[in-house]
Amino acid sequence: MVTTELAPYAKAGGLGDMVSSLAKALALRGHDVRIVCPLYGCVRREDSWTPHETSLVVHLGRREEGYCRRWEGALPGSDVRLYFLEHDGYYGRPEIYSGPWGAHSDNGERFTFLSRAALDLCYALDWMPDVVHAHDWPGGLVPVYLNTVEAHKPLGKAASVFTVHNMKHQGYFDSGILKFAGIPDAAFVPEGLECMGMVNFLKGGLYHATKLTTVSPTYAKEMQTPEFGHGLDPVVRFRAADLVGVLNGIDAEHWGPEVDEYIPAHYNTQDFRGKAVCKKVLQNRLGLAEDPHVIIFAAVARMDSQKGLDLLAEAIPRVMEHMHAQVVVLGMGEQDLEHWFLSLSYQYPGRVGVHIGYDSALAHLVEAGADVFVMPSRFEPCGLNQMYSMRYGTPPIVRATGGLLDTVQSYHEGEGHGTGFVFEEPSVDGLFYTMGWACATYYDRPKAFRQLQINGMKQDFSWRHSAQHYEDVYRWAMEDRSLKV
Ligand code: ADP
Ligand code: GLC
Repeated sequence: MVTTELAPYAKAGGLGDMVSSLAKALALRGHDVRIVCPLYGCVRREDSWTPHETSLVVHLGRREEGYCRRWEGALPGSDVRLYFLEHDGYYGRPEIYSGPWGAHSDNGERFTFLSRAALDLCYALDWMPDVVHAHDWPGGLVPVYLNTVEAHKPLGKAASVFTVHNMKHQGYFDSGILKFAGIPDAAFVPEGLECMGMVNFLKGGLYHATKLTTVSPTYAKEMQTPEFGHGLDPVVRFRAADLVGVLNGIDAEHWGPEVDEYIPAHYNTQDFRGKAVCKKVLQNRLGLAEDPHVIIFAAVARMDSQKGLDLLAEAIPRVMEHMHAQVVVLGMGEQDLEHWFLSLSYQYPGRVGVHIGYDSALAHLVEAGADVFVMPSRFEPCGLNQMYSMRYGTPPIVRATGGLLDTVQSYHEGEGHGTGFVFEEPSVDGLFYTMGWACATYYDRPKAFRQLQINGMKQDFSWRHSAQHYEDVYRWAMEDRSLKV
C-alpha cells in the first residue's frame, strides 16, 4: 500500500485510520502486507524501527534521480511491515499537506517521489507484490507508472487497486511534473492524466488502475454524478464497471469504550457510569460548566466546507437560545471557520467549548464524553467519526449522504429502532430542528435515548466483512491484469 497517512503516526483525517486498520485485518487473514509512507517531521519514531544503511535510489526523470533513506518497522500489534521514507527536503517539515501558508508548493514532487520510491523499494527488497494498492490523489501516479514505465518490467505484472477517499482533492499540477516523474508524454492525454491542460493525479489513477474502489456503496453511486464528481464524474462513469464501494471498518482495538487508552474511565452497554466520568472530564477540559444532566453536542472534524461545520456555527446562537445544551468543537482548517467557532466560545462561555488544533487524545475523549455527535456533512465518502461515536454510545446526527447513509439508521420514535438522527437538507434549519429532535429525545424520553445508545454500541463495524471484500477486489484485479499483461 502506498499512502500519505498512517495511524497512529501521521493523520490529517480518516485515511490514516483506514489504511492501518485495513492492513491489519488483511495481515490477520494471512496476507503479506507492506506499507510505504513518508517520514514526516511530525512522525514519532519507534525505538524498534531500523534505518537501512544504503540509500534507496529513486528513478525519477533522467536528470532528477533521487535518493532517500528508509526506516523499517512493524505496525503495532501486527505483522504488517512499514517502510518510512526519510527525505528532509520533501518530508522533513511537520505537516502532511499544508503549512501555515496553505498547501505545500512542492506537493506534486513530494508525492511523485513517494509513488516512484514505493516501486523502487519493491526492486530493492526483491519483493514483487501481486497488487499495489494506492490511495487518493497523492497515489494517483502509481497505476500510471505500472502501465507505462513499468509495463515491460517485472513490476508491470502487478495489478493496481486505487481507492478514492475523496473526489474533491485531485492534485492538479503543471505538465512539467511529468518530466520530473519520468512518465512519458503519451500518458498526458484526456483519457489519462490530462485535464484542462494540467496534470490531474486523481484522474490518472482513475483511468489507469486495474480496479477502483471507494469507501462506501452510496458514495460509489454518488461520485458518478455531477453533484459529487467534482468534474471527474464522466471518468468515474467510464470506469463504473471496475468500481466497487466497500464500507470502511474501524479498529476496535483503539476505538471502543471498553478498551480506549485515552479515556479516563471505561464503560459498556451494561454499565454507563464510566461515560459520566468522561463527560465530567470533558467539561473541565474545555471550560464548560460541570453539569451531568445537560446534553452535550459535539463535533470533531477537519474544518472544510465538506463537513458542513458552518451550518453548526450558524445554528449555535439558536441552540443557545432555545435549548438547555452545551456544544463542543474540535477541529482545524479553514481560518474563517476557526475564528467563527472561537468567537462563539467567547460569546457563550461555559456553554460552548472550542479547541482549535489536532489532538488525537482529545478526539477520543470527545467521542466518549459527549451525548450526541454532530456530522452535518455536505458529502461524506464514508466517515469514521459517526461509527466511532456509535461505538461510544454517542448517537450521531448525520446528513443523509455517502457513508453516513450506509452506517446510521435513523431513530424511529414509534418502534425504538435506530442508531442516530438523520436529516436530508444541508441547511441551518435542517440541522437545528434535528438537534431539537435529539434534545427532546434526550430529556423527555430517556429510556428511548438509552436504547438508541445501546443499539449503536452493538453494531458490528469491524473489518471482518470489508477485508474479505477487498480480498475479492484484489483477486479480481489480479485476474484482470494477468489477462492483459
Ligand atoms: P475525514 O477523513 O474526511 O476527515 P473521517 O470521519 O473519516 O473524516 O475521519 C476523521 C478522523 O480524523 C477521525 O479519526 C477523527 O478523530 C480525526 N480528526 C479529525 N480532526 C481532528 C482533530 N482536530 N483532532 C484530532 N483528530 C481529528
Ligand atoms: C476521506 C473521507 C472520509 C473517509 C476517509 C477514510 O477523508 O472524507 O469520508 O471516511 O477518507 O476513508
